Amino acid sequence: MSDSSSSDEHTTATGILSHSFVLFGALGDLSLRKLMPALYQLEHAQLLSQELEIMAVARSAISTAELKQRVEHTLNQYIGADQLNPSTLSRLLQRLCYCQVDLTQAHDYITLVQALSSWQPQVTFYLATPPNLYSDICQHLHSAGGVNSFSRIVVEKPIGHDLASSKVINDALALYFDESQIFRIDHYLGKETVQNLIALRFANPLFESQWNNQYIDYVEISVAEDVGIEGRWGYFDKAGQMRDMVQNHLMQLLCLVAMDPPSQLDASSIRDEKVKVLRSLKPIKPDEIRHHLVLGQYADGQFKQAPAPGYLNESDANTSSNTETFIALRAEIANWRWTGTPFYLRTGKRMASKVTEIVIHYKPNSHYIFSPDQASLAKNRLVIRLQPSESISLQVLTKEQGMDKGMQLRRDPLQLDLAQSQSNARIPDAYERLLLEALKGNQSLFVRRDEVEIAWQWCDQVRHSFQSTDQPLRPYPVGSNGPKEANDMIQMHGHLWYEDCDEI
Ligand code: BG6
Repeated sequence: MSDSSSSDEHTTATGILSHSFVLFGALGDLSLRKLMPALYQLEHAQLLSQELEIMAVARSAISTAELKQRVEHTLNQYIGADQLNPSTLSRLLQRLCYCQVDLTQAHDYITLVQALSSWQPQVTFYLATPPNLYSDICQHLHSAGGVNSFSRIVVEKPIGHDLASSKVINDALALYFDESQIFRIDHYLGKETVQNLIALRFANPLFESQWNNQYIDYVEISVAEDVGIEGRWGYFDKAGQMRDMVQNHLMQLLCLVAMDPPSQLDASSIRDEKVKVLRSLKPIKPDEIRHHLVLGQYADGQFKQAPAPGYLNESDANTSSNTETFIALRAEIANWRWTGTPFYLRTGKRMASKVTEIVIHYKPNSHYIFSPDQASLAKNRLVIRLQPSESISLQVLTKEQGMDKGMQLRRDPLQLDLAQSQSNARIPDAYERLLLEALKGNQSLFVRRDEVEIAWQWCDQVRHSFQSTDQPLRPYPVGSNGPKEANDMIQMHGHLWYEDCDEI
């Protein structure tokens, strides 16, 4: 593993506003569905520099005028024709140019580099392409003279499917770009509430002083999706939920919840602290799997009152697949702050509803003085809802009102709805923030090489342990909260998932 821990102090690519943006894969799904709408919103908020020029790159033989038509059509579709502001739209379209490039053909890059020759030399290249093209793109761009010490490269996940393959991709990038020039996207880091975690933890002494194993019983990070594979069968069946969600999004959330306060808010300080957490994760040994890991796969069920097919019955399914669409695991962080406080991570496709939540389950008081039948109520929980309806809610206990209620306890939330509490109510999409920060050269919302690789190392180890056991994949019906074995697993340790807490 390269020692990248100090390389982002290198300042050639960071901290300078980039006025040239080149989007590879510009006609692909990610670009049209996420990046173009994000650029539109940044334009609308007047956050793009006046000089910014955007080169869209793809293989199709279309003209710049046709590209503009496509982009306008896309924005109508994803933002809504009635929402589009004509002057914003026209400003954005004026910035766009198109260059036809077959990404595997070296000579096409010469045309691209020539087209960029009059542009500002600090170019941000965004690779919205499959990762197997990263190496070719970097190499050809470099050979054509398109890369300099001011260039930045933004890459999407997946960075490999295990530690070895991630190293191959990282090595290919490192041949042409310094670590300070590489911006690896994990779109969860761009979400507003994820950003808010940093403010919540480190700007509020109230929370930070109790953010440890003395006060916190366990932490739960749940990312439930109601969608299934959405036509991405070829990719997903080789990945599964461990590689698709845990190795990146859930591990990043875990790091932000568990890390020590960084000495400053700069990229190196934050990323160093995240790496320390990843390094402290205890491996899950084969003989611990039964108590630490449940893998599941959705089976036929009901979604919104209609029958819905299971994973193996989806159209184009690999009917003998044993890829997991659900995972629940108990992670332990072996350090001073967290030893004895487990982190339960849970994520699945085709579950009851889409909800991403971090729940901090606090310990009860050491001495309890209220009615014995209310003892299980007397705990605080902090619920950080990332999506939908971003909110932070602290569950506190008060007394039931009324002379006849004695000292009967009740739990109520102190609730902060983030969209409503601030007047500029629109919560930006993660890609808006990430694009803006990449253009500014701020790496703190992007993932460093060592983070990616240590996360893979841990996930690979957990997968190998699982494979060495005879644990089966547990079925769960579409539209449920996952297999019942996930409840058994957490209950073995005397804990409950948040949705079950008030039922007992
Ligand atoms: C992507 C995964 O990274 O994240 C998808 O590849 C998943 O499978 C998606 O659906 C979830 O993102 P979000 O922002 O909708 O929670």
